[in-house]
Amino acid sequence: MYICSCNGLTDHDVSAAVEAGATRPVEVYAARKCRAQCGNCVKGVVCILREALKQRNAAAAMASREIAAQQDGSRAVA
Ligand code: FES
Repeated sequence: MYICSCNGLTDHDVSAAVEAGATRPVEVYAARKCRAQCGNCVKGVVCILREALKQRNAAAAMASREIAAQQDGSRAVA
């Protein structure tokens, strides 16, 4: 789905930028080598950015818990 008609930015572009480390709208635009022009899309970019960051942080927290559980399991055996 197109989010930014000025730059042809899609929701997938926003998600990809977050996966590459973007945490702010300006970083999302920079990842596509563009910048906000009319500004109509900024609210939509922020909304998708927040959701993608939530998902990224939840995945990182789950991975961290799994590593901790594995370490606890290996300590119990040792
Ligand atoms: S719609 Fe994104 S800058 Fe205009």
